[in-house]
Amino acid sequence: MLVNSKKMLKEAKKNKKAVFQFNINNLEWTRYILEECDKLKVPVILGVSEGAIKYMGGYNVVAALCYSLISDLNIKTDVCLHLDHGSSLESCKMAIAAGFNSVMIDGSSLPFDENVELVKEVVSLAKNQDVAVEAEIGSMGSIGSNGLKIGTNTTLEACVNFVTETGIDSVAASVGTVHGIYKGELNIDYKLIKSLADELLVPLVLHGGSGLSNETLKKCVESGITKININSDIQESWSLEVKKYLQENPDVIDPRKIIGSGKEAIKNVVASKININN
Ligand code: 13P
Repeated sequence: MLVNSKKMLKEAKKNKKAVFQFNINNLEWTRYILEECDKLKVPVILGVSEGAIKYMGGYNVVAALCYSLISDLNIKTDVCLHLDHGSSLESCKMAIAAGFNSVMIDGSSLPFDENVELVKEVVSLAKNQDVAVEAEIGSMGSIGSNGLKIGTNTTLEACVNFVTETGIDSVAASVGTVHGIYKGELNIDYKLIKSLADELLVPLVLHGGSGLSNETLKKCVESGITKININSDIQESWSLEVKKYLQENPDVIDPRKIIGSGKEAIKNVVASKININN
């Protein structure tokens, strides 16, 4: 069933467990994640970036795809369809109109006051529509072809003010992780996570969950993280598997076989992450 993320995150926070957001890119991605989470009987958040929405054809396509897969595959577990890193009020409006249950508005590159104003507009838009709002404070690092871009962690005071002033349902606070697959040891500020979790009633979101060992993810959850976002790990595992398949089967032209050759890789990543809750 499609639901907003408020209840699943509240319960997870209470039980010191994690809810995972897995990012989707196409029909197969969505299907494999849904099937695995349904099999394991865990709630899941399907994260969709603006880039992935554009790639798939638009907000309505993504919503119809998710709603239809849940219905036709008879998915019983709770699923939340979430806009990841929404960049404007307009994109949040389009996501909500299409049927998304949750939106992230990312004004983290703005000065504090402007970020607060933007987030407040989204909160007032979502308030009467049973839609959850996540927002970000501090700046996340990233790892890409240009190497590692270090972010700036937020502070306890700034984050508490941000949550109080905006009325958001969950907060993505930068605590030292980066987007993309960083293979070394990151300098995660567990003390900051703990003090934020102690001080705030809303769930804490960890962006940049890929590339971290399950021990590290567990430590983040023990310190107070409730939602963990995973995108790059799935992309990497799927790509490796598909490349291998194509090398071994150069004559195959059926796209279902090619794309589907990465199915187990995706399901394995999903299952392995979820296992940190056991
Ligand atoms: P990764 O690139 O580490 O998978 O991060 C995903 C993410 O935070 C999406 O918002």
